Amino acid sequence: MTSGTGLDLEQHQKEALERIGEAPDEAALELLRVQFLGRKSAVSRELSRVGGLPEEERRQAGQQANSVKRAIRAALENRAQALGMVQAGSLAVAEAIDLTFPGTLPRRGHLHPVMLVMRDMEEIFRGLGYDVARGPEVELDYYAFEALNIPVGHPARDGFDTFFVAPPGSDEEADPTAEGRVLLRPHTSPMQVRYMERYRPPIKVVIPGKTYRRDSDATHVPVFHQLEGLMVDEGVTVADLRGTLEYFARAMFGDDRRIRLRPDHFPFTEPSLEVHVSCFQCDGRGCALCRHSGWIEILGSGMVHPNVLRFGGIDPEQFTGFAFGMGIDRIAMLKYGVDDLRTMLENDIRFIRQF
Ligand code: DAH
Repeated sequence: MTSGTGLDLEQHQKEALERIGEAPDEAALELLRVQFLGRKSAVSRELSRVGGLPEEERRQAGQQANSVKRAIRAALENRAQALGMVQAGSLAVAEAIDLTFPGTLPRRGHLHPVMLVMRDMEEIFRGLGYDVARGPEVELDYYAFEALNIPVGHPARDGFDTFFVAPPGSDEEADPTAEGRVLLRPHTSPMQVRYMERYRPPIKVVIPGKTYRRDSDATHVPVFHQLEGLMVDEGVTVADLRGTLEYFARAMFGDDRRIRLRPDHFPFTEPSLEVHVSCFQCDGRGCALCRHSGWIEILGSGMVHPNVLRFGGIDPEQFTGFAFGMGIDRIAMLKYGVDDLRTMLENDIRFIRQF
């Protein structure tokens, strides 16, 4: 240091580095930057003075002023970095996460009660060696009625409350009397003939799926589910039907269940049988669920009508079979004690979570 100004600068640097080292935050640091490096700072004044100095002094004075400037700049940078780390450090403390703390598990969804029952049914029949097949929901009149021994004009058609589909591209209302109509299947039975067309006996198949009818109240909705069953082979009798459905009823509703058969009528079976299961709530003593009869109707069934076998390309002289159809939604309601079918479809999460 050769001049008084040089000593001033030394003092200036010392003070600057001290105060920068103690700056509490970035705002304070900015003020110090202005104070020690700004236009009015000692360094700036010295640098502008250097130009006017005689040749011999200029070089040394300039070097000194620049080195002071660099030292202050470096100190500012260091302090800024340190402050940043202090800040990150206090954040790490304030927002610390304990990675060993048990988390909140997202609630897992599950199948709808109707689907749960449908899968149970499929499983029971798979266990008996049945195939599980699916079929079209948009169906031809031929498979839904004709081939099931329900020709045009047959009164049994009325009971099916069918939705007919207008031909594609036409604005017209669907015509329920036209030949070759297309409809939304009102039952899963159309798959009986479709399956017989495809496969030869021995046939053992169940067909679960959606079905449609123009019907809506506490026990009927326009879209519901059925499970169809078909067995065709040489020498199949009502005894096979009974044994199979009794096994099913026990697997579905409990080992103590009994079944009973009552005469019924369907055009596609002869004879036709209504199947009842002993009430699984009161064990047959009589309660509200079974309307005090001790029995609950669960399905329709019968021996496949010879005409239906013929429509399926199977010789009724050589083969016989039984068939059955049941409402899955209804059985799910019975099983879970739900009294309004519509609650099954509203998808109220509070209801669905109970299963
Ligand atoms: N398809 C009939 C219905 O929806 C139920 C039914 C009855 C199916 C007897 C069958 C059967 O296969 O043999 O009402």
